[in-house]
Amino acid sequence: MKILGIETSCDETACAVVESGRKILSTVIVSQVDEHRLYGGVVPEIASRRHSESIVGVCEGALEQAGCKLADIDAVAVTYAPGLIGALLVGVNFAKGLALAANKPLIPVHHIKGHAAANYLAFPELTPPYLCLAVSGGHTRITEVKSYTEFTMLGQTIDDAAGEAFDKAARALGFPYPGGVYIDKAAVRGDKSKYTLPYPKTANEFDFSFSGLKTAIINIVHNAEQRGEELDKNALAACFQHTVCVLLCTKLFRAAQLTGYKKVALTGGVAANSGLRDMLTERAKEIGAEVFIPPPLLCGDNAAMIASQGYYEYLAGNTAGMDLNAYANGIEMTASF
Ligand code: KG4
Ligand code: ZN
Repeated sequence: MKILGIETSCDETACAVVESGRKILSTVIVSQVDEHRLYGGVVPEIASRRHSESIVGVCEGALEQAGCKLADIDAVAVTYAPGLIGALLVGVNFAKGLALAANKPLIPVHHIKGHAAANYLAFPELTPPYLCLAVSGGHTRITEVKSYTEFTMLGQTIDDAAGEAFDKAARALGFPYPGGVYIDKAAVRGDKSKYTLPYPKTANEFDFSFSGLKTAIINIVHNAEQRGEELDKNALAACFQHTVCVLLCTKLFRAAQLTGYKKVALTGGVAANSGLRDMLTERAKEIGAEVFIPPPLLCGDNAAMIASQGYYEYLAGNTAGMDLNAYANGIEMTASF
């Protein structure tokens, strides 16, 4: 079964064709990041406009790369939540138009479930149930993936997402947006014990809080500036990255211990972080857990993961009518989704 996936929840316009949830036939991503970098972050209005301009060409490219025509596609899957509302609406309405015109089923896909499915594309042997940590620019969430389509949230960020914290810390260090990857590169050269950073606590032990950590970085930078001291940027990047990785890994493996899962998966843009990949792999080895981390190209937003999850939603009977709407959040606030 060939599914066309469509993803426009943030600043990537992406379409892909995936066979039976597991095999990528094509994947096309047009990133707007160069334009948003000028403003130090994603400008929602610009994101929606660029999606509108790019979506037809990106979709044609994905079909062509897969050697398909629209008639060869069995269903259209689209991210409908969560994300930037104007950006999501472009993808949802485009998907509705395609599904209506070609008389194909329309499948709504939750973005975080899509991120989890990135691992199905990389690891044929991975099947639910397992524990998943999704870490991206907008989300930080530990979920129990009970089946391909049933997720229960154990914890999430109560303020900044992990990627957002990386980007804000990077900005304080003078790196361009999005700065996660610059912190990653600088951290490799830095001494991770040079600066003392706080380990924020949360009422629910599986929730995360990163805003205090970000403020600590900003304070260290300002204090150094005011005192005329030279800042060791590599060391500060290393300390920040190490602290975030310890928080993420500790909570994920504590959740694994309490729930009894021996299979853990990482996903989302921050899953590309080399320190996090290494620490998670090492800690999993220590407790004899299997760990799944997508290759860096499947960590960030893409439509192949949406098509993959779309396949499993279709099998579960989760299709939508022409009244499908997009949701910025809300839906993800419930414990089960
Ligand atoms: O999943 P994603 O592409 O988009 C969202 O759904 O948000 O994640 C983007 C986030 C950004 O915050 C970016 O800085 C972060 O992923 N990121 C990284 C790395 N590569 C991307 N963070 C840390 N280290 C990296 N190597
Ligand atoms: Zn994402």
